[in-house]
Amino acid sequence: MTFVKLSAALVAGLLWTGMAVAQENVPANDQEKKTLEGTADKGGEAGSGQQTEMTGAAPASPPGAEHTADVNQELEIRHDTVELKEEDWPHAGVFGTYDRAALQRGFKVYEEVCHGCHAAKYLTFRSLADIGFNEDEVKAIAAKYEVQDGPDDAGDMFQRPARASDRMPAPFPNDNAARAANGGALPPDLSLMAKARQDGDNYLYSLLTGYADPPPGEEVAEGQYYNTYFPGHKIGMPPPLSPDQVTYDDGTTASVDQMSRDVTQFLSWLAEPKMEERKQTGIKVMLFLLILSVLLYFYMRKVWSDVH
Ligand code: HEC
Repeated sequence: MTFVKLSAALVAGLLWTGMAVAQENVPANDQEKKTLEGTADKGGEAGSGQQTEMTGAAPASPPGAEHTADVNQELEIRHDTVELKEEDWPHAGVFGTYDRAALQRGFKVYEEVCHGCHAAKYLTFRSLADIGFNEDEVKAIAAKYEVQDGPDDAGDMFQRPARASDRMPAPFPNDNAARAANGGALPPDLSLMAKARQDGDNYLYSLLTGYADPPPGEEVAEGQYYNTYFPGHKIGMPPPLSPDQVTYDDGTTASVDQMSRDVTQFLSWLAEPKMEERKQTGIKVMLFLLILSVLLYFYMRKVWSDVH
């Protein structure tokens, strides 16, 4: 009987490990680990857009790290007071996969709206093939952009149309230019944003749909906007979405809710493009361990049967 119990415990343990492997939010890459762990002591800005006193070179922090420590702390503090909207994301859970149609729509929203202010420096055009664009579509998307290349034979840098292997160029040449164009607030890089914020998907969706009139008595300064879900409620980003701002190729109605949902899914993919492989590996590992433990159990029974 002890063996049965032991085996049962073993199987349960293995199952649990497998589930953990499949489900755990493994950071997308080392950069992001830094984003998640290394920002606590950076003393980032207040996350309220009042960063005008920041001078000199921008800190060499990974994308999304700018406010990560502060924002996550504040999110934690406010967790009891403001509940994020909880959505059923198709990519959530152990068996969840990305909805390719939503990702393509989300890319369109990112490209046509968010990219006006936000860079996504880890987005290569080529990787858009993973969300269902074919080779010609990827080339056509890349060809819309110019990137700097060089130096040429004369030692000069030059501009050329982007290729599939290039990264999507940033909207501003540097952080100072981005701040100057946004009333002092820096639009953070969105590559890893879905991972850099607590409960990232729900946070992004809530933030984008969270603009509201300030409650009576609450002052909102010029160049700031009231958002229910942003820590401190005053954000330097004007409401980016309005109905029918993009025209979806698949005929989906572009409501603010729909666009927010789609771009959230796109940003979630961007932060962890290999999520599906990770989950599949987890499930395979789990099955393997399960079969192995059953075999071991019977083997053990056989070995011990001679003792009696
Ligand atoms: C007009 C420029 C502009 C556009 C367009 C824009 N943003 Fe922003 N965004 C900003 C600025 C500026 C900030 C920094 C706000 C602050 O720190 O107060 C910001 C901040 C953010 C943040 C960080 C919030 C946090 O927790 O720190 C997210 C996420 C974000 N934007 C997502 C988006 C998405 C998604 C889109 C497209 C639908 C978009 N933005 C479009 C200017 C813009």
